[in-house]
Amino acid sequence: MKVDVLLGLQWGDEGKGKIVDVLTPEYDVIARFQGGPNAGHTLEFDGIKHVLHTIPSGVFREDTLNVVGNGVVIDPLIFKKEIDALVDLGVDISANLAISRKAHLILPTHRLLDAASEAAKGKAKIGSTLKGIGPTYMDKTGRNGLRVGDIESSHFEARYHALRNKHVGMLAQFDGFEYTLDDAEWLDAISFLRGLTLIDSEHDMNAALKSGKRILAEGAQGTMLDIDFGTYPFVTSSNTISAGACTGLGIAPNRVGDVFGIFKAYCTRVGSGPFPTELHDEVGEKMRAEGHEFGATTGRPRRCGWLDLPQLRYAVDVNGATQLCMMKADVLGCFDEIHVCTHYMHRGKKIDHLPFGIEPDEVEPVYTTLPGWPGDLTGIRTLEEVPQTLLNYVAFIEDAVGVPVTVLSVGPDRAQTLTLKAAQTVA
Ligand code: GDP
Ligand code: IMO
Ligand code: MG
Repeated sequence: MKVDVLLGLQWGDEGKGKIVDVLTPEYDVIARFQGGPNAGHTLEFDGIKHVLHTIPSGVFREDTLNVVGNGVVIDPLIFKKEIDALVDLGVDISANLAISRKAHLILPTHRLLDAASEAAKGKAKIGSTLKGIGPTYMDKTGRNGLRVGDIESSHFEARYHALRNKHVGMLAQFDGFEYTLDDAEWLDAISFLRGLTLIDSEHDMNAALKSGKRILAEGAQGTMLDIDFGTYPFVTSSNTISAGACTGLGIAPNRVGDVFGIFKAYCTRVGSGPFPTELHDEVGEKMRAEGHEFGATTGRPRRCGWLDLPQLRYAVDVNGATQLCMMKADVLGCFDEIHVCTHYMHRGKKIDHLPFGIEPDEVEPVYTTLPGWPGDLTGIRTLEEVPQTLLNYVAFIEDAVGVPVTVLSVGPDRAQTLTLKAAQTVA
């Protein structure tokens, strides 16, 4: 068997959680492979709207194992709160949630370091979610981190205090940064974590594949936030692209099957950094209002703009996307005409790829205008009801990126999902 991968092709918040939830019945295991509580994945069904941060989006479906992989960073406190909220909804996680012993722990001092670092950057700040993601991955690659498996050791408290004290020393370097550090609740959450199912997930993943189990790897953030291929330094601290599923779960590249690329019919970004098609006018405001574009984790307003085809093609390439899911087509129903960026003007030349720098002084988007599909799409349930102009928009995108759009989403609910074409399963 192969592991299918599902990930974001833009700047995050594409609707990954929704599609994982829709696809979960086809899989035995849903596994998160990177990121942490900076993510906010929204699921809507049966009148329930729920946001997941670290827990995989298969958790609401019975008979599916949800694995938090080694590439993920976990804040035990947020993790516990997430589980409490699920228990309140009647979800029994005792049998269907497992955590990799090799996943790294976010310490309270990692969060403080994140805040101190952002404050010190001033106007140049990343716009981090302030969940401690950057400092935790820095400790991982710096070989100082603490992992979930360490909490089973009798030396854990000593190791925790050593790292915490090191961080306190580092915090003293940030002039004027004031904080209080109370880790009692965090340590209680560590005890709670000890009671959960901790696994050597790379073994379990490979054993599951050998026994014919179907696995879907769930990405967080999006390609333009990837530490290598995103708009560095305005990125997150992990590999969000499909290759991240290999290192984040312990599966070999030749085990990757389908790669589902999720994208919005337009673009959004939350936090700082370049965004070539960003709209600073009433059109962008209309997109934000119609699309309810406010962050699922921080509540911050998302920046909005038209679809960017050079960016999308880049993302399709670096991920090896085999099929695409287009989200939020209903939101563009508020416009008579749709603009789509097909090229950039870059140093006096028209180019159709993403250059090294995409700041406003480097690239100027070139748009094509297409007829829109004014009206309300949210009630559509069959292919026959989809307006021809929307099908033309989909065909235009497929032609530009060379990969089929197999799923069309017309609302946040599970039921508001249409299959455009049969999935092309990679054997
Ligand atoms: P994720 O981080 O990629 O899982 O995406 P988020 O949950 O952060 O943001 C996507 C938002 O769009 C959520 O509020 C979803 O409920 C909502 N959403 C998903 N698909 C659609 C859609 O097709 N139409 C509309 N209107 N909303 C959608
Ligand atoms: P999901 O999985 C959108 C952004 C932050 C900031 C940058 C770095 O819901 O799509 P970090 O907290 O990682 O240090 O922030 O990345 N960011 C996201 N934007 N969706 C996300 O996750 C994001 N996770 C991080 O806003 O610009
Ligand atoms: Mg999100």
